[in-house]
Amino acid sequence: MIVLGIETSCDETAVAVVEDGRGVRSNLVSSQIDVHRRFGGVVPELASRAHVEALNPMLDQALAEAGVTARDLDGVAVTVGPGLVGALLVGVAAAKAVSLATDTPLIGVNHLEGHIYANFIEQGGPEPPYVCLLVSGGHTMLVHMPEEHRYEVLGGTLDDAAGEAFDKIARFMDLGFPGGPLIDELARKGDPDAIRFPRAMLDSGDYDFSLSGLKTAVIRYVRTERAAGREPKPEDLAASFQEAVVDVEVAKTVRAAKEKGVGTILLGGGVVANSRLRELIEPAAKAEDIEVMFPSLELCTDNGAMIAAAGWSRLVRGERTPLDVRADPGLPLAQAMA
Ligand code: KG4
Ligand code: ZN
Repeated sequence: MIVLGIETSCDETAVAVVEDGRGVRSNLVSSQIDVHRRFGGVVPELASRAHVEALNPMLDQALAEAGVTARDLDGVAVTVGPGLVGALLVGVAAAKAVSLATDTPLIGVNHLEGHIYANFIEQGGPEPPYVCLLVSGGHTMLVHMPEEHRYEVLGGTLDDAAGEAFDKIARFMDLGFPGGPLIDELARKGDPDAIRFPRAMLDSGDYDFSLSGLKTAVIRYVRTERAAGREPKPEDLAASFQEAVVDVEVAKTVRAAKEKGVGTILLGGGVVANSRLRELIEPAAKAEDIEVMFPSLELCTDNGAMIAAAGWSRLVRGERTPLDVRADPGLPLAQAMA
């Protein structure tokens, strides 16, 4: 089954062709980072326009690289939410057009489900249940997944998302945008134990996160040091901040898996590209006899292959999305179960 995947929820225009949710035939990502960099963050109106310009030629190219024509498609998968509404609309309109013109079933995909299904591309995976940690620019969430496509939200951030915290600290440190990869890189040269930042909610006994206190602690630390005539080493600052974020994520995720009695943890979202998170979670989970899966680096950040993979998993179950589906900027992964 050949599925086209279209993703335009934020600042990457992405199109992919994936066979049976596993084999990537083509996977094109056009990043708008250069458009948004000088604003220090994503500007929604500029994102929508850039998607409009990039998408049509990318659709042609993705099909050509995959060695297929639109007529060979067995499904068109598209992100319908959550995300920026104007940005989502561009992908949704294009997907409807392809679906209608080629008489191919349309399947709307939740962006976060895409991040989860990125884990199974190329490598397949064990059967559910899973516990998923979703950490991206817009989300921090712990989710219990007892079976395919069923989600019980265990907890999430009370303030900043993980990627957002990385981006804000990078901006404070004048490193650039997006901040995650820049802090990750700098932290490799620093000492994660140099500064002991607070681990918010580490022992709160629930599955929630809070990152705004850490952000304040970093800023206060730098100001106090400077007032005393000392300049903190950026490498140590980056490494110590990153360690505080990752420590809590790892501890809470492993505990959730243990308490839910699941044998597999899935990681999803742009922040899963973080080298320290990937490094620390495996031994922590292994100590509890839990397996960890994460996507390859290029499949962690937003891409079309993950949307095609998630869409395929629904299409094979006979699911279809009507052509009048609307983009939903606040689309929930699941309602929290009582
Ligand atoms: O999933 P994603 O591509 O887009 C959203 O759905 O939000 O995630 C983007 C986020 C950005 O905040 C970026 O700074 C962060 O992922 N990120 C990282 C790393 N690479 C990307 N954060 C920490 N370490 C990284 N290596
Ligand atoms: Zn994402």
